[in-house]
Amino acid sequence: MIISDDDNKKSSPNLGSSNIKKIQNDKAGKAKVEKSKDLEAVSNEFDETYEKTIRPKTFDEYIGQSNLKETLKISIEASKRRNVPLDHLLFYGPPGLGKTTLANIIANECGVNIKITSAPALERPRDIIGILMSLKGGEILFIDEIHRLNKVAEEILYPAMEDFFIDLTTGKSQTVKTMRVPVQKFTLVGATTKAGALSGPLRDRFGIVHRLEFYTAEELKEIVKRSARILNTEIDEEGAMEIALRSRATPRIANRLIKRAGDYALVKSDGKITKEIANLALNNLNIDSLGLDNTDRALLKLIIEKYNGGPVGVETLAVALGEDIRTIEDVYEPYLLQSGLLMRTLRGRTVTKQAYEHLGYKAPGHLNNGQMGLFD
Ligand SMILES: Nc1ncnc2c1ncn2[C@@H]1O[C@H](COP(=O)(O)OP(=O)(O)OP(=O)(O)O)[C@@H](O)[C@H]1O
Ligand SMILES: [Mg+2]
Repeated sequence: MIISDDDNKKSSPNLGSSNIKKIQNDKAGKAKVEKSKDLEAVSNEFDETYEKTIRPKTFDEYIGQSNLKETLKISIEASKRRNVPLDHLLFYGPPGLGKTTLANIIANECGVNIKITSAPALERPRDIIGILMSLKGGEILFIDEIHRLNKVAEEILYPAMEDFFIDLTTGKSQTVKTMRVPVQKFTLVGATTKAGALSGPLRDRFGIVHRLEFYTAEELKEIVKRSARILNTEIDEEGAMEIALRSRATPRIANRLIKRAGDYALVKSDGKITKEIANLALNNLNIDSLGLDNTDRALLKLIIEKYNGGPVGVETLAVALGEDIRTIEDVYEPYLLQSGLLMRTLRGRTVTKQAYEHLGYKAPGHLNNGQMGLFD
């Protein structure tokens, strides 16, 4: 098994954030909840079309994650030469870093079909059996949010992943019979924002497990420029950098911000995104110089004002902010941790000196003495 986990490769801490609610909306959109077409649904649909246009389709268009790309290119080439399907792959990392995009690129580069589903859609045994039986030789099965697979679905998946068969049971109690049914050789690509929540046996069955990294400002700048070209929006180098720095180290957010900045430029100026226009547009969205939005700042302020900088448990934070714990852990925290504003300690979350300073507070003495307050 290749486990590649380049935790040490830090991207610039000076990278920024934004529209987190939109990320959650996307998730809801993906779950295909049938709702009346209210404004939110229409805007999600619009966002999905936009995402599709902008999503890279080849490794060359996929910017950054160079180690991962190299590993994948070699594996793909080897599988082609051996004429066998690619090893099962697991991608993990915060939302919007390009897991789904990669799965599609792999299918494209291998010249095979991809079937896309997500764990919550595989609730009943027949859901997963149906999809496994429908796979044709060499196809890719992409399961999003794979940490949410239930035990029964996992048990069905194991022999399919290892030896390409499933055990079907028919009949009831005394007359129950098990039939071993072959499935076509396929490649499973799993994606999750929470690798820790994946069961050990499932994780062990992936040949390649890879964590996606936050993006550097330079990489995001390239992504912004590429998206601007596709959108036919004029942007200069400094404008692209400004958006990159405030995109929370995340391509999905960079793409959203460029769109908003483009709208702003069109309405308030001559349509071109300069540094000044990008700045005004992002300030208008309440995205600050580090890319934090209102909720990020509320979270840090809460710890500073009510809990003296921490430590405070994530449950308490969730209640005070009216967010659920998963959203805080999966969506808000990774970037705050990455950018050195927040720390996880044994007793809860604490903010750092940088967080105090960024929000205009005076940092308490123990932080000024170079101690991070890890265990106070
Ligand atoms: N390396 C990249 N280069 C260029 N654009 C990228 C890259 N990675 C992601 N993107 C853009 O960011 C958007 C979000 O990526 P994607 O949907 O693949 O993220 P994800 O990791 O699957 O997120 P989630 O965990 O929310 O499902 C894509 O639409 C794509 O346009
Ligand atoms: Mg995805």
